[in-house]
Amino acid sequence: MHDFKYIRNELYCEGVAIESLVKKHGTPLYVYSQQTLTSHYQKLDAALAPLNHLICFAVKANGNLAVLRTLANQGAGFDIVSEGELRRVMAAGGVASNCVFAGVGKTEAEIVFALNAGIYSFNAESEPELARINAVAGRLRKIAPVAVRVNPNVDAHTHAKITTGTYENKFGIALEEIEGVYARASKLKHLRLRGLQMHIGSQLTEVTPFAEAVRKVMPLVKKLAAKYHLEFFSIGGGLGIVYQHALASGSDKWWKTAEAKNILTPEHYAANLVPLLEPLGLRILLEPGRFITGNAGILVARVEYVKRTGKKNFVIVDAAMNDLIRPAFYDSYHEVVPLSRKKGAPIPSDVVGPICESGDFFCKDRPLAKVKQGDYVALLSAGAYGFVMASNYNARPLSAEVLVNGNKSAVVRERQPVPKIWELERVPDWL
Ligand code: LLP
Repeated sequence: MHDFKYIRNELYCEGVAIESLVKKHGTPLYVYSQQTLTSHYQKLDAALAPLNHLICFAVKANGNLAVLRTLANQGAGFDIVSEGELRRVMAAGGVASNCVFAGVGKTEAEIVFALNAGIYSFNAESEPELARINAVAGRLRKIAPVAVRVNPNVDAHTHAKITTGTYENKFGIALEEIEGVYARASKLKHLRLRGLQMHIGSQLTEVTPFAEAVRKVMPLVKKLAAKYHLEFFSIGGGLGIVYQHALASGSDKWWKTAEAKNILTPEHYAANLVPLLEPLGLRILLEPGRFITGNAGILVARVEYVKRTGKKNFVIVDAAMNDLIRPAFYDSYHEVVPLSRKKGAPIPSDVVGPICESGDFFCKDRPLAKVKQGDYVALLSAGAYGFVMASNYNARPLSAEVLVNGNKSAVVRERQPVPKIWELERVPDWL
C-alpha cells in the first residue's frame, strides 16, 4: 500500500497535488510520503508482534535525515554500512545503541567511531575483521559486541547483482565454518558474542527462500545461543515490493486481485517465519530497506522533448540515470505515469534521459499516455535505492527531495547548486 493516487486525474501524494510541488521546487524531484513510510513500518512491526524484535531500517535504501527521523520516531533501529551512515542516523536523532553495522570492509577508523558511539552490534563478515574489531576494542579499553554473518547458501531467486546468500559471493562465512569461528572468537578478550546474522538477498518476492534459510540455520543458532549466551538472531532484510503494478497497489481494491495474492506481505512473511523463530526465545532483528521506503517515494521528471523516429516514440525527460540508476544497472522496472491523466490510447514509448549512453533509459516500448513538452511524468517505487545511488555524472546536480505529510510538504533536501559540484576540486598552481 502507498499514498500516491489520482484525484480528479491529477497525481497526489497524500493530500498534496504533485504538480504543485514541481511548480514550486522544479524537477527532477524526489517526493516521499510520510504516511506510507510509517504505515509500512507499523505493518511489519505489528506482524512481528509475537516476537521480541527490533526492525533495523537499512539506511542504504534511503538515508535522507527526514526519512530516518520519521522511522526513529516510530522506534526503529538502523542497519548501517559505514561511518557516514551512522553519523546520518545520529544527525537524524536515531540512537547508536539501536544500530547494527554490516559490510565486508569496515575500516579501523569506522570501527573506532562505531565503538565510541556505542552501537548494538558489529555484524562481522570474516575472521580478519573479528581480529581487527578485537584489537581496536582492546586499544580503546572497550568490549565490542559482535555477531557473525552466516552465509546459508540459499538461492534467493532474485537479480544476480542483489543476491547475497550463496557461496558464489563475498558475503558472510559458510555455514559449516561458523562453529569454528565462534570458538576462536570466544577466545578474543575484547569481543562479546552477542548474536548471529544472515541476509540472503534483496527484492525477494517469495517467502520460501527466507523460511528455507531460517530452517537451515536454526540448529546452528540454537547451539551457539546456548553455548555463548547469544542475545539476538538477525534474519536480514530483503522483503520485496511491488514494482509492476505500483500505482494500482495503492488502492484498496487492488488487494483483491490475482497479482496481489502473489506478493509477499508482512502478514505472509510473519505467518511463515514467526512460528519458526518464536521458540528460540531470542531477540529477532530484521534489516528491511526497500520494503519500508521503496513504494513510499517517486521521482518526478519534466518532458523536455518528444522525438518520433521511424520505429520509436522517445519521451526525453530531465531526469537521467544519474538520478535513478536502477533501470540501467539492474534492468529494473519502474512504472511511469503522467502527473495529469488525459484520455487517449497509450503509445509504446521509451522514456529516456539526456545522458549520452544507451543505458540512460527508464523504460522501453512501454505503453504510455500521450505526453508533450512541458508535461510531467512520475517514476514510481523510487523511494529505495533511488536518491542514495545518485551521482553527479555529466555535472548534473543532485535533485531535490520533498516529504509530504497530509496536506503539508517540506523540502528535505535542497537541489544541489551547480557550482557545488566542483566545490572540492582544486586546480594546481602550475596550471
Ligand atoms: N541487510 C544487509 C546486510 C544488506 O546487504 C541489505 C541490502 C539489506 C539488509 C537491505 O535489503 P532490502 O531489505 O532493502 O532488500 N541497490 C540494489 C539493492 C542492493 C541491496 C544491498 N543490500 C537495488 O537497487 O535493487
